[in-house]
Amino acid sequence: MKPEIWRFDNANSLYYALIDRVSQEIRGITDLGRDPVVALPTGNTMIPFYRIATEKQALLEVRKWHCFGLDEYYPILPSQQNLSFKNYLDDHFYSKLENQPQSRNFLDGSSENFMLECERYERKIEEAGGIDLAILGIGTNGHIAFNEPGSDFASRTRALPLHPQTLMTNFHGAAPFTHALTMGLGTLLEAKRILVVALGKSKAQAVKSAILEVPSRTLPASALQNHPSVTWFLDQDASSFV
Ligand code: GLP
Repeated sequence: MKPEIWRFDNANSLYYALIDRVSQEIRGITDLGRDPVVALPTGNTMIPFYRIATEKQALLEVRKWHCFGLDEYYPILPSQQNLSFKNYLDDHFYSKLENQPQSRNFLDGSSENFMLECERYERKIEEAGGIDLAILGIGTNGHIAFNEPGSDFASRTRALPLHPQTLMTNFHGAAPFTHALTMGLGTLLEAKRILVVALGKSKAQAVKSAILEVPSRTLPASALQNHPSVTWFLDQDASSFV
């Protein structure tokens, strides 16, 4: 299915448009009498989004939201909590909000039993009524959340080894983690709407493969071609090849 592609001349206009679009989606959900279930990304790309959105307290009806982090490193020792995605979302988003969402859900990277933890998360999403809106970034190797190359398009929330390229990009040297917990591609594809954000030349090839090439496990983001409502938010560099 053909995605919508929104291109922007500069990063600021992209982030403002993304905030408007999120608000529009939220309005659509609350108009139906539902409390929005939103999957939230981490990564450097999203830091300005959270900053601008919280400075302006621009996100609608946050008190009604059920928020779900997409992924988490695993296992996380108590001394490594500052590197966790839970910490990222607390720092960049939740701690900056005037009103807290009605639920903030995380994959627990310090859980002893990762299988039970992943099952618990899937159940939580189901109990919340499924994801209404998933906001995603993309890795240079085409990962979405932490679904690395090789991920099955039907995969559910699970533990998996991180790709060397991901570890190199995220830690620029000796990586403190080797594995992660992530919502699966199958879990994400059940979201009613998906917004994907990519900026910079380093993402251009992955964006091209995700949008234009035949879907394949080697490029997890190409699974998004099987979803009926995906919008890409791209700057000039990231959209160079599409
Ligand atoms: C991270 C996260 C992804 C994120 C991607 C891109 O490691 N697991 O959810 O979208 O990699 O990150 P960045 O925005 O820093 O390029």
